[in-house]
Amino acid sequence: MRKPVSRILVINDEGVVLKELIKGLNAAAKSLDNPLGIVFTGVTTARDALRAIEEDGDIQSVIVDDTLYTLKTEGGNSRVLQMSALELVQRITRFRPQLDIYVLIAQEQEDEVVDALFTESVDGYFYREERDYRGMYRILNAQIQERAHTPFYDALKSYVLMAKDAWHTPGHSSGDSLRDSPWVSDFHEFMGEHVFDADLSVSVPMLDSLMDPTGVILEAQKMAAKAFGARRTFFATNGTSTGNKVIFQTLIAPGEKLLLDRNCHKSVHHGVVLSGAHPVYLDSSVNRKYGIFGPIPKKTLFKAIEEHSDAQALVLTSCTYDGFRYDLKPIVEAAHEKGIKVVIDEAWYGFARFHPAFRPTALESGADYATQSTHKILSAFSQASMLHVNDPEFNEHIFRENFNMHTSTSPQYSMIASLDVSRKQAVMEGYKLLSRTLRLAQELRQQINSTGVFRVLELDDLLPEEVRHDGILLDPTKVTVDISECGYTVEELQHELFERYNIQVEKSTFNTLSLLLTIGTTRSKVSRLYDALMRIARERRAPRRLYRTPEIPSVTSLKYLPRDAFYCGGQTLPILDDQDRINQRLGGRVAADQITPYPPGIPVLVPGQVITMDILQYLAGLLRSHKRVELHGIVYDGYVPCMRVLAPGDEKGLKRLKGA
Ligand SMILES: Cc1ncc(COP(=O)(O)O)c(C=O)c1O
Repeated sequence: MRKPVSRILVINDEGVVLKELIKGLNAAAKSLDNPLGIVFTGVTTARDALRAIEEDGDIQSVIVDDTLYTLKTEGGNSRVLQMSALELVQRITRFRPQLDIYVLIAQEQEDEVVDALFTESVDGYFYREERDYRGMYRILNAQIQERAHTPFYDALKSYVLMAKDAWHTPGHSSGDSLRDSPWVSDFHEFMGEHVFDADLSVSVPMLDSLMDPTGVILEAQKMAAKAFGARRTFFATNGTSTGNKVIFQTLIAPGEKLLLDRNCHKSVHHGVVLSGAHPVYLDSSVNRKYGIFGPIPKKTLFKAIEEHSDAQALVLTSCTYDGFRYDLKPIVEAAHEKGIKVVIDEAWYGFARFHPAFRPTALESGADYATQSTHKILSAFSQASMLHVNDPEFNEHIFRENFNMHTSTSPQYSMIASLDVSRKQAVMEGYKLLSRTLRLAQELRQQINSTGVFRVLELDDLLPEEVRHDGILLDPTKVTVDISECGYTVEELQHELFERYNIQVEKSTFNTLSLLLTIGTTRSKVSRLYDALMRIARERRAPRRLYRTPEIPSVTSLKYLPRDAFYCGGQTLPILDDQDRINQRLGGRVAADQITPYPPGIPVLVPGQVITMDILQYLAGLLRSHKRVELHGIVYDGYVPCMRVLAPGDEKGLKRLKGA
């Protein structure tokens, strides 16, 4: 394994003193145990310090002299303050909150300085006069080691290395059932031995319990909370899909209102059914030219908050799959004024805390809850997510009951370890890796545009008209490419990229491709993609007409709570009759299931919603289309597509929603 480099930046305005400090500290680092590769470097001005912190991703800690002066040479030897320690500390923490910060003080000024910095994230103080370099080094080293510590992963590794005989689950018993099998040993070989010997049972006490953490899982969660800026963090091994459901079941009792983007992930809609929420759907903006759904207009949000001040929670996705970021602060403030909790689905944005280009995060904007698919954009295994809580009224007991309701009693320990390790990576090298990702995203944009055929869509191209003045930003790691000039349909292009160039993209609309850059994106992947697109562009195929997915009808009224409708037996009716015409019997009936065409993945019907002719025409259009669209929620009777609706008898027993 490559040894890390951990640079510690010392900021002192007196060149001679600085030199002596650096020399003494580096000598201590050399003579003492130094597993993290600590080296000291120095600058004399606050400006140089801020530049170094921006440019050098290997800086892990900073030692700031409490007063930084510049000698004013013209007109005498007076000294002017460059920047107070307080201001510098604030600027450093705003920029990279992960860094450890120490302040060098004079003994006689101790009280003054400590008082001024009391509420800032200063990790400790050293007396300038002491010159105890070995002592300072030991403290700085211990602090970095503490951040780099992975309590759960370390315990898992130690347990595996102890090689205990397993008299417990899982049945493969550390891989013993597979290793020598003439039939399945190749699986063992392919996956690697540690996949099996680290797949352990909840019977191992030293690995703690995900459902009642008191040991290494609790410790790892606490470290994640600190890293992500949350009061509490919980690890989830069933993805953000489960995280969203757990939070709604915690916040909302049956019949209580939830304000939500209709374009939310389907787990949010499932959460509505499970919690019994009364959903108030808010229509998101749409970019019709590219078939992309944007944020909900601020005006719509503020109006909904005003009109439904009895709502328990508001849930939004930020950033969205396409990279749209809300200007969350004013929205959160408006919701909080009415006592509405704010939940932000940050499934695609879990890295944001670790680079100022992506901040503020949802929690930094005041949100009460944020759910993040650590696996989607950091280094965790699939399904490994984090739920962050900042709700001052957090009801831990109810949350725990709901969490445990959704959590397997046999969680995958490798997944938990991957969350622990992802947190460590984000804290130790997130800034550096994200800086690289941003550079690659910029290069990729330039390269794609240089093909003259493909074009990266910028915020201005993507933003629907109705949200132009809403302070929306674009996450540059989500790259949407206009393919309409290349002469391929999007399906043909995806096929060509996959078969001829070994490239799998993230998603598409009828005239765009979406590419996702992560901390795992490398320059050679960028070059290969550029090469493929350039070759395709050079073919100069004549542009062809692209098939446009029909526009999804807007939300119609809800007659019953989704949960009530979903749990009715209902009846299934065909959508089209024998002559391929729309089944008129469906008009005015109430849906019992959620029907979601994919793409775009937005429900056209939710349980309890009244079915209109517009909706039926939209569904019939998709069913008749030659383009294959998945229609989740449609049930087939043989070859006949049907939908489940409430039977007349079902409706008799149900309570109608107010205004329905
Ligand atoms: C916005 C959003 N939220 C939640 C999820 C679910 O996340 P997970 O795959 O971690 O369950 C997804 C998945 O694509 C998503 O796009």
